[in-house]
Amino acid sequence: MRTISMKVKDNELYVGSFKLETLAKQFKTPLYVYDEQHIRHQLDILKENFQSKKYECMTIYATKAFLAPYMMQIIHEYGMGLDSVSEGDLYMIHRAGFPMSRVVLHGNNKTKEELIYAIKQNVGYIVVDRMEEIDLLEEILTEMKPKQPIQILLRVNPGIHAHTHEYIQTSLLSSKFGESIYDEKKIDDIIKKAKNSSFMKLLGFHCHIGSNIHQAKSFQDATQTMLDFMKKVEERNHYSFEVLNLGGGFGIQYTKDDSKIDLASMVQSITKTIDQYLDQYDLGIQKVMIEPGRSIVGEAGFTLYTVGGMKKTYGGKNYVFVDGGMTDNIRPALYQAKYTVDVANHVDIDSPHKEIVDIVGPCCESGDIIVTDYPLTPVQKNDTIVTYCTGAYGYSMSSNYNGSVRGAVVFVNENQTHLAVRREEFEDLCRTTIDISMKRMFDCHSDMLYDLWTNKTKGIENRFKKYHVPQLSQSVIQGSIFTMYSPNDFDLIEACKIALNEIHLEELSHFKVVLGLEGLRNLKQVEDIDILYQMGFRHAMVTWNEENKYATGAKSNPNRGFTEEGIRLLKRMEELDMIIDLAHLNEKSFYDALKVVHKNIIYSHGNVKTLCDHPRNVTDDQMKALAKVDGLLGLTLANNFVDKEEQNQTLDRFLEHLKHAISIMGIDHICFGFDFMDYLSDFPNSNLEEVKDATFAYRIIEGMEKIGLSEEEIDKICYRNFYDRYQDKIIMTSEGKKK
Ligand code: LLP
Repeated sequence: MRTISMKVKDNELYVGSFKLETLAKQFKTPLYVYDEQHIRHQLDILKENFQSKKYECMTIYATKAFLAPYMMQIIHEYGMGLDSVSEGDLYMIHRAGFPMSRVVLHGNNKTKEELIYAIKQNVGYIVVDRMEEIDLLEEILTEMKPKQPIQILLRVNPGIHAHTHEYIQTSLLSSKFGESIYDEKKIDDIIKKAKNSSFMKLLGFHCHIGSNIHQAKSFQDATQTMLDFMKKVEERNHYSFEVLNLGGGFGIQYTKDDSKIDLASMVQSITKTIDQYLDQYDLGIQKVMIEPGRSIVGEAGFTLYTVGGMKKTYGGKNYVFVDGGMTDNIRPALYQAKYTVDVANHVDIDSPHKEIVDIVGPCCESGDIIVTDYPLTPVQKNDTIVTYCTGAYGYSMSSNYNGSVRGAVVFVNENQTHLAVRREEFEDLCRTTIDISMKRMFDCHSDMLYDLWTNKTKGIENRFKKYHVPQLSQSVIQGSIFTMYSPNDFDLIEACKIALNEIHLEELSHFKVVLGLEGLRNLKQVEDIDILYQMGFRHAMVTWNEENKYATGAKSNPNRGFTEEGIRLLKRMEELDMIIDLAHLNEKSFYDALKVVHKNIIYSHGNVKTLCDHPRNVTDDQMKALAKVDGLLGLTLANNFVDKEEQNQTLDRFLEHLKHAISIMGIDHICFGFDFMDYLSDFPNSNLEEVKDATFAYRIIEGMEKIGLSEEEIDKICYRNFYDRYQDKIIMTSEGKKK
């Protein structure tokens, strides 16, 4: 059960020159380790013993046992092939650069997309499972018209009862795989269809009788049965087949109760049987394939765990708790599989003091078991447990159940380690989920519309889908004011039309949009605000930093405020019930506005002036004035609004602004207007490094928790303060609302 290069030194278990305990500490547990020499040893056995002078022998490694580029590279070195079961497998294989001509595609329910992908990737052999698949293939191929005919094999069921667990028997008459060799009419019909097709070539047959089979006789029987079958089929159809694929299934020794398996003689028994009958049967077989998975990697791999503690139950059972189990090795739960284990840092096989224990994992499942009633050397907390023979169907069947992360996979070759698969991080657990609905943020300032317009006019298509959807779908941000900035000489209305056409929220979930304007210098006349309103705009800032015909921006003449036209504009916006955003105005304009309008007032993006003296930040008095009109201040992530000194441009400093704003305005008057600039080519790296784009917005929530804000306070600031006041201004949602 130990691998070839395992040895014991001073009661410590080693693989190559590495102490298992050291590997466990270095790569963390649970950890899958492969002894590369052991894998190579198995491959050598196959290479030397699966041979014939009469036909080509081809070993196809069954990737379902374990698949990673490092493993594929070893197989490639041996000139062997790979067996795949799905488009996903093919994708990984193709991506690793493995020659596709040596790949076999299986599957009892292949989709049209899968078959098209396989054909496009020039997969070597497609194993057709049933009649319907031949029709589907023909339909696809007639459309695709490949230059070379696609090479296919037909999977048949020889009806061999292999002695193994019922879940991994595949050749009973009731099995779902392939067409029965006894269903002669169906088989002949399939052959006829294939023969009539100009786009496929039926090279021969495939069978796989099951997995973890210990009797060589089962393989002999299968081989013999397949030869008999082929002879009959050839006679009936007057056709000669050149390929016979006998599948995998060679067993391994998991425990001392299993019989020892001689892989060499198992594969020899196949070739001997074929060699014996080939001439007698007058078959034209030119290539014989086998598809071993378990026998190549099973015994070469083992899993390391760390002991977390022990318990003796009232009922008298001794438990040893480790940090893995059914999530990294489902086989005991699924097939009642038995394993051999050791305490790797205290291997004392002959100790008379063995205790009978169950080694179990941390999942909320009584079936989360590694071994039961097992005589184990006494263990202690933090010891390293090794489970032998987990190299096949361990990692490949692992899961994230109960929020567990998959451990790393490391190959050891004498004095070298090679990390084949990194350990998952918690972030990986959230990689595919669409949103985090309990934590939500509304971003009251995003330059989205300007970005969409800029890209579209540069000829860059699908900016929203390609750049923003991936980000927003990974973000806690569930809504935003998307604004259009207004540079000089700009056709504002036309630009807005272009940008609005680019927004496609369908691929996000729970996303809400308020349309806004960042500066109205290009509004030709006050009345034109109605046109924008009709287009869906419900928010506007009157200026950017400039002075214009309506008001004066933060970086312009401090003594100039709103003009008469500007006042008219404000009043019209108030009549339209629009959100009036005072951000970017200078102080004088800010107070001028407050004299005229009294509702729907926000300052969407700016920070606290007493902490960072920037013209775009607000004084404590301004904050008080905003709170008085039930306004909102949106704190922002622009670096230089957080602190003048680069080294202080941190999330912690940003939280100081938040604390100060709360102390002046109270919880109910604060929101966020992040102003992410990662996507604006003129302002790279202008946000806090720790929250450099929308995907990192969750860190602000973490920070808010850290400074002691309650869940309710966090939700108000992040979301509800804005949403509860202005949800009627939401004009588009991912659920389809588009007024
Ligand atoms: N070829 C075909 C068509 C197969 O279906 C399989 C395994 C193999 C080859 C490789 O068989 P191997 O040499 O590895 O026994 N999860 C189960 C094993 C399922 C095997 C499925 N097919 C287990 O952990 O025991």
